[in-house]
Amino acid sequence: MRNLSFFNYINGEEDDFSEILSGLENQEQKKINSKFFYDEKGSRLFDQITKLSDYYPTKKELEILDREYEQINNYLPANAMVIEFGSGSNQKISKLLKIIEKPEEYISIDISRNFLLKNARELAINFPDIKITAVCADFSDTNNLSKVIKNKKSKVGFFPGSTIGNFCPEEARELLKKFSKILGLNNYLVIGVDLRKDEKILEKAYNDSEGLTAKFNKNILSGINKICGTIFDVNNFDHKAFFNKNESRIEMHLVSKKEQTVEILNKKIKLKQGESIHTENSYKYSVDSFKNLAESACFEIKKVMTDQKAFFGIFFLKVKSP
Ligand code: TRP
Repeated sequence: MRNLSFFNYINGEEDDFSEILSGLENQEQKKINSKFFYDEKGSRLFDQITKLSDYYPTKKELEILDREYEQINNYLPANAMVIEFGSGSNQKISKLLKIIEKPEEYISIDISRNFLLKNARELAINFPDIKITAVCADFSDTNNLSKVIKNKKSKVGFFPGSTIGNFCPEEARELLKKFSKILGLNNYLVIGVDLRKDEKILEKAYNDSEGLTAKFNKNILSGINKICGTIFDVNNFDHKAFFNKNESRIEMHLVSKKEQTVEILNKKIKLKQGESIHTENSYKYSVDSFKNLAESACFEIKKVMTDQKAFFGIFFLKVKSP
């Protein structure tokens, strides 16, 4: 395919290894970085989660893209380079590439290599006039990204799925600042944000009745086993997700069903019965609290669109001078 190219910026596994170890050695609360969810199986499972009726965010975000089709085009420049941070499936980007007038290039960044390549290939076929670059990388590692994202006339960053909610507010601000630098002055960021709402609805989205989120959560341990040599027995853990009101976030944990010890190299990690490994946060914002966050990270708010129930928001931001 002539319109498709590929770059790989994934770190060596030694880095992963020490990151995993230090998270599990944490005395206060054991944790695993949520980027380890997205191996090939994890990416596929997550794609299935987005189709569940209990998991509303994807449907609401798509609803906004469909309903506000024409309006959205007014807020974004023509002939742009579109950059997606953490691409996942092609559903949303296909819509955006059709909404924007004559996008010239699309840069797809994802950590899950096979998933990324499969989707990029499919997109290159469906959009033969757009130059497509697949970048296997951690999207928060913008040093590497600057090697592919060269200066172009106009850029539109796309960060859907409320992935921003998976960072705590201070990290989210830093990440937005990195994005603003890589996009450059007067360029745009389209970002999807899950909004705070009734707790029951929130908790159901992360405790779906088909048990897929539980499977997805436990799959992180299989990924760790691949990197560190088999250390975890997935059957010894339960999935737990709940809304933490004070922090305005869904927390996801894996709870040890019994006292157990796992060994990484020569280190022994002990887990008590009922002790948990924290695997994910998903912060929920109000429209105003997210506006404040974006403004504190060098962005100007051009427009906010929500679905009819205001479950989910798409924010159209423009990079302003610091
Ligand atoms: N960005 C998604 C969210 O916070 C990620 C997500 C959805 C997720 N469901 C999950 C992560 C289940 C881990 C487990 O909603």
